[in-house]
Amino acid sequence: MPEYILAKHLSKHLNEEVILKGWVYNIRKSGKIWFLVFRDGTEFVQCVVLMNEVSGEVFELKTTLTQESSVMIRGIVQEAPRQENGIEILVKDIEVIHIAEEYPIALKEHGVDFLLDNRHLWLRSRQPYAIMKVRAEVEQACRDFFNERDFTLVDSPMFTPNAAEGSTTLFETQYFDRKAYLTQSGQLYSEAAIMALNRTYCFGPCFRAEKSKTRRHLTEFWMVEPEMAFFDIHDDMALAEEFVEYLVQRALKNCRRELEILERDISKLEAVKRPFPRITYDDAIAVLKRKGFDIAWGDDLGAPHEPAVSEDYDRPVMIWRWPAASKAFYMKRDPEDERYVMGVDVIAPEGHGEIIGGSQREEDIKVLLERIDREQLPVDDFQWFLDIRRYGSVPHSGFGLGLERTVGWICGTHHIRECIPWPRTMARLKP
Ligand code: 4AD
Ligand code: MG
Repeated sequence: MPEYILAKHLSKHLNEEVILKGWVYNIRKSGKIWFLVFRDGTEFVQCVVLMNEVSGEVFELKTTLTQESSVMIRGIVQEAPRQENGIEILVKDIEVIHIAEEYPIALKEHGVDFLLDNRHLWLRSRQPYAIMKVRAEVEQACRDFFNERDFTLVDSPMFTPNAAEGSTTLFETQYFDRKAYLTQSGQLYSEAAIMALNRTYCFGPCFRAEKSKTRRHLTEFWMVEPEMAFFDIHDDMALAEEFVEYLVQRALKNCRRELEILERDISKLEAVKRPFPRITYDDAIAVLKRKGFDIAWGDDLGAPHEPAVSEDYDRPVMIWRWPAASKAFYMKRDPEDERYVMGVDVIAPEGHGEIIGGSQREEDIKVLLERIDREQLPVDDFQWFLDIRRYGSVPHSGFGLGLERTVGWICGTHHIRECIPWPRTMARLKP
């Protein structure tokens, strides 16, 4: 192993001499002392350079070192109660690895388009750094949650012949001498997989040609999708609730420092405890009408409606039992009233909108065929999917959680494009 240490481990080396390798985040000068804010991708730490502690050559680096230059620093770890992380480095020596050219992202306000054009550099800044850390933790927490609960990971394909979530947002691509689509959701494949493995999940990128330029839509986003044999809609909602609580608790436990950097109000996340309120679509419509919205039964709930419903709660709210026409063809009809399907949306608090869509699935082949016909879907391409209902059909359910929306909520981020390393939207394919 190399002899240098990562800055996140500094507190274990109090009063010891250490070597760090990383980049210059910022420099502040004042006479016989200067300060270098150092970052190495694991922590930001203040380094103090005193005239009588270093060679003249090192002291003069204050005039030549530039933002984002790469350096090796040798120094003593000291307690510093006024620093965010309670620590600073008393510098003994600095070795320059590379002097950076003038860095485009100075430490001041920049327009978001400029930052997105420079995403490859912007990732080095404090906020993106902290968000990527939280994203990685949430992603790992998703895997841990299902792996600890008898689920098997079954990955779904990215090239597909079928539309899972409506034909209007399909990305079509040339596939040799045929057309294929980029996957919108792995669900249909998971429905087949659970008949082999009982409880599965898939986790990967999904693609939707979203023309809506909202702060909640990407054209490429990540979704984790559990699917369970013998689960009805109530079992499905209970699992979704347990899952969301788990993700938030994991972030609270393992991402304190990052949430601090993001100035997230922790108390809002601490309130996220089961049980979550469950209301029906009809309840939601009644609430919206009472709040003055011009909305009719059967309308889908969009960006203005979700926050208006969720503002009454301090934790996610589950809206279930939706009008069949507003939801996907595979959702199970309510046996008591066929105008409804057993679907559920989980809406995050604080205006972050829908983070989960799920449902009990239609297990009756006759009903499913009717739905496929009514939606004018190409029935031949769905024969394999219909086989699931031909050979030992069982009640089953599942849901999909959008990773970026969930991370956006946990981090308190305004736009979910900040929650994926390389955002893709209608207007952006670079860098
Ligand atoms: O509600 P959706 O469309 O549900 C499905 O795709 C189901 N097949 C999932 C399932 O039951 N297995 O999408 C699920 C979630 C949404 O709640 C949202 O969090 C996220 O995926 N999502 C998007 N995130 C970012 N950009 C987009 N364009 C998104 N579309 C959906
Ligand atoms: Mg949805």
